[in-house]
Amino acid sequence: MAGEGLAGHLEWMREARFGLFIHWGLYSAAARHEWVKSRERTRDEDYDLYFEHFEPDLYNPVEWAREAKRAGMRYFVVTTKHHEGFCLWDSKYTSYKATNTPAKADLLAPMVEAFRAEGLRVGFYHSLIDWHHPDFPIDGYHPQRDDDDFKAKNTGRDIAKYREYLHAQVRELLTGYGKVDYLFFDFSYPAERRPEIWGNKGRDDWGSKDLLAMVRELQPGIAVNDRLDLPDEGDVATPEQYQPFETMAVRGGRGLWEACQTLNGSWGYDRDNLDWKPPEMLVKMLVDGVSKDGNLLLNVGPTGRGEFDGRAVATLREIGGWMKRHNPSIYGCGPAPYKPPPDCRYTMKGDRLYLHVFSWPFRHLHLPGLAGRVKFARFLHDGSEVRREEVDPAQEPFNTRLGGLPAGTLTLELPVNKPDALVPVIELLFS
Ligand code: GLC
Repeated sequence: MAGEGLAGHLEWMREARFGLFIHWGLYSAAARHEWVKSRERTRDEDYDLYFEHFEPDLYNPVEWAREAKRAGMRYFVVTTKHHEGFCLWDSKYTSYKATNTPAKADLLAPMVEAFRAEGLRVGFYHSLIDWHHPDFPIDGYHPQRDDDDFKAKNTGRDIAKYREYLHAQVRELLTGYGKVDYLFFDFSYPAERRPEIWGNKGRDDWGSKDLLAMVRELQPGIAVNDRLDLPDEGDVATPEQYQPFETMAVRGGRGLWEACQTLNGSWGYDRDNLDWKPPEMLVKMLVDGVSKDGNLLLNVGPTGRGEFDGRAVATLREIGGWMKRHNPSIYGCGPAPYKPPPDCRYTMKGDRLYLHVFSWPFRHLHLPGLAGRVKFARFLHDGSEVRREEVDPAQEPFNTRLGGLPAGTLTLELPVNKPDALVPVIELLFS
């Protein structure tokens, strides 16, 4: 069965299935995507506006942690530093950090504490890319990629010095904040994978092998993602902004996969973006992932004032309402060895099979291969029985009587109206 060969240090993560991604940095104040500096080719001196005016006066990580918990999330991953280079913590290797903004504080420490207090596991996202560091060589993603004067003045940039900075900061993060459960590096673009970009960067630039060894030494048991450009690397594969078609074999079954998804297409707070995914779609994405043995890391981009905006909160709460009643079909669940009916997904844990109905059919659901296997069936949202029958394959259809169904089919009798749940789930208890 899938998940069986999973490495021991990833078991908590597979059990958790659902986490919160947080993208928070200076770009939150621009409020038009976390790549704003690159997209708009902004110079450091102009981007400084956001640094000078970073005033998250409403920041209350206890509230964030409570929202995450209420949504049913079991871990969180926060951007310690995104590509813009700004550090949320009080790093001794840079002055480009939260303590030097009007926030005047290490913003990471209270966040870690708040989420831990709510029982969530701790994850750090750390950008390999850095559009602020003076030794980070300009490349095709860099904000000054088309600025010839700037490039001429910056030919002496030394990746070795940047690499030292990168390693020192990761060491700082993994020694100053207690147990870190997950590290999400982002991202590599070696020439063979990204030929359209110039100034490619990958394992040699980051010193990936040594970096990973250091991470594992400092935090034994930590889960690490797959973006360091190492062969056969990482514990966690990270499909981004799409749902895998089927189960992904990660490191021959020893690894996990986790889809990272946005609420609206942007990771950073994006005020005018209207592409908000409906909660029902997000629940379906979570379920779809678990049915393929994967996790969902769902992102919120807090505002420059330090809050989750109302649209994000409303969505998280709706998901939380669903999770409250339906989490048995999510936590610790994985794929089932049965073929679900059209527009449905199965998840399974032990001798319980969970049928998620994405589109509500009229009166019946026919489940191949389950005849004689189920001793009880009920909805998860209210525990009410779902009646079963097995239709004789030889039965002739007659007026209101169903015609015969293939041998082995279990038929469920459904209410006409879809139950009041974003995605109704029927729990099937095996005999
Ligand atoms: C990407 C983007 C980035 C985002 C991340 C999340 O690679 O560069 O902005 O943080 O993926 O997975």
